[in-house]
Amino acid sequence: MSKALDGVRILDFTHVQSGPTCTQLLAWFGADVIKVERAGEGDATRGQLRDIPGVDSLYFTMLNHNKRSITLDTKKTMGKQVLETLIRDCDVLVENFAPGALDRMGFSWERIQELNPRMIVASVKGFGPGPYQHCKVYENVAQCAGGSAATTGFADGPPVVTGAQIGDSGSGLHLALGIVTALFQRNATGRGQKVDTAMQDAVLNLCRVKLRDQQRLERTGTMEEYPQFAEGGTFGDSVPRAGNASGGGQPGWILKCKGWETDPNAYIYFIAQAPVWPAICKVIGREGWISDPDYATPRARLPRLMSIFATVEEWTREHTKFEVMDILNKYDIPCGPILSMKEIAEEPSLRASGTIVEVDHPERGKYLTVGNPIKLSDSATEVTRSPLLGEHTEEVLRELGYDAAQIAALRDERVI
Ligand code: COA
Repeated sequence: MSKALDGVRILDFTHVQSGPTCTQLLAWFGADVIKVERAGEGDATRGQLRDIPGVDSLYFTMLNHNKRSITLDTKKTMGKQVLETLIRDCDVLVENFAPGALDRMGFSWERIQELNPRMIVASVKGFGPGPYQHCKVYENVAQCAGGSAATTGFADGPPVVTGAQIGDSGSGLHLALGIVTALFQRNATGRGQKVDTAMQDAVLNLCRVKLRDQQRLERTGTMEEYPQFAEGGTFGDSVPRAGNASGGGQPGWILKCKGWETDPNAYIYFIAQAPVWPAICKVIGREGWISDPDYATPRARLPRLMSIFATVEEWTREHTKFEVMDILNKYDIPCGPILSMKEIAEEPSLRASGTIVEVDHPERGKYLTVGNPIKLSDSATEVTRSPLLGEHTEEVLRELGYDAAQIAALRDERVI
C-alpha cells in the first residue's frame, strides 16, 4: 500500500521532544526520515530517564519510530560536506536547535537555499521575534509563556503546568502541518520556504479560548460559567484559573465516584448539558428541579452550579466511574471517566485501533508506545522501532554515493 508522503525525504536535525514528534508523524505518513545525530552521543534523550542501563530510553524510543539514524559531526569540515550532500538530496530540513545554532554551524537559510532552492527549512524555537527570541526553552517554559499555566489550576492555588506536552508535542504538530502545507505549495511554485513554529505561539493557539475569555472579562467584568461567579467571588483584570470548569458553554466539573478515598482516579467529568437537564434530575432523584424556577433554566442554574455539582456528586459517589459512565450515557448525558495511564495502556479498543501499539526493540524488548493518532484510510501507519545510534550511517552514505574508502575516511576522522 502506498503512503501519503512516499518519496519525501526529511533531513531530521531534531532532538529532545518537539522536533522529533514532528518528524515521527511525517515518518508515519511515509516520509523517509534520516535523523542526523552527533557522533558518539546522539540525541540527549537516548540517555535520559533510562529504565534499563545502557539501552535507549523510552523517552527516545517513543519519539523516534520509523526513522533512520546516521551519526555525523557537522562541525568538522568533512561532516559539513556530508551535510551539504544531504541538503541537496532531501526535501525538508527540520531542526529545533537553540536559536542561531544552525547559522553558527554555517548553514544559514541563504546557504541552504544556494545548495537546494527547493528545500523547506522547518524550525521550532521557544519564542518568535521579540524580547525572548534568543532564549533556550523547554516544555514548561512554553506552557508558562503561552498562557496555559496562568489559566490552569484552582483559583486559590499557584499556576499549574499540565501533563499534556502542549509545548513540545503541540509545537511538533503545528510544525508538521506547516511542512506538509509548504510541500503542497512547492508543487505550484517549485520553491522551498521557511516554516517557523514558536513554542509560545503553539501553546497560545491551544489556549485560544482563554484569550476569548480575557476579552469577555474586559467587556463585561464577569464570566458566568466560571466557578468564581457561582461562588460569589470577584474577578480581577485577567482570566483566572477555573479549576475543572468546562472551557465552553456547557458547565462541567470533576466529581468523586465510589472508591475515591483510596483510588486517586475514581472520578468522573460530569457535564450539565442543558438539553438533558430533565434526564439528569431524574437519574439523581431530583425530579423537583425540572420545574423549580431556581433550577429549570441554564441561566437560573449558573449561580448555583457548585451546589448542583455537589448534589450530583452525592449520587456519583454511590457508583464506580464506569457505572456512572454506563448509566449517564443511556440518557446521552455527556461525561467521562478519569482514566489512569494504567487503564489506558490496558484498554483493548485503543490497542485495536493502533493508538496504543506494542513495539519490539532489539535491546529493550517489547514496550508500549502511542501510535499515530491521525488515521488516513489510504495511508496506513505501521509503527516500527526507533533506530539505534548510527544504525543507518553506512546505508545512507552509500545511497548518497559515498564509496567504502570514503566512508572509512569519515570514520577515521571521527566524523561518523
Ligand atoms: N554535530 C556537531 N554539533 C552538533 C550536532 C552535530 N550533529 N548537532 C548539534 N550540534 C551542536 C549545535 O550546533 C550546538 O552548538 P553551538 O551551541 O556551538 O551552536 C550544540 O550542539 C548544542 O545545541 P543546542 O540546541 O543549544 O542544545 P542544548 O542541549 O544546549 O539546548 C534546547 C537544548 C532544547 C534548550 C535548545 O535546543 C532549544 O532551545 N531548542 C529550541 C526549542 C525547543 O525545541 N525546545 C524543546 C525541546 S523538547
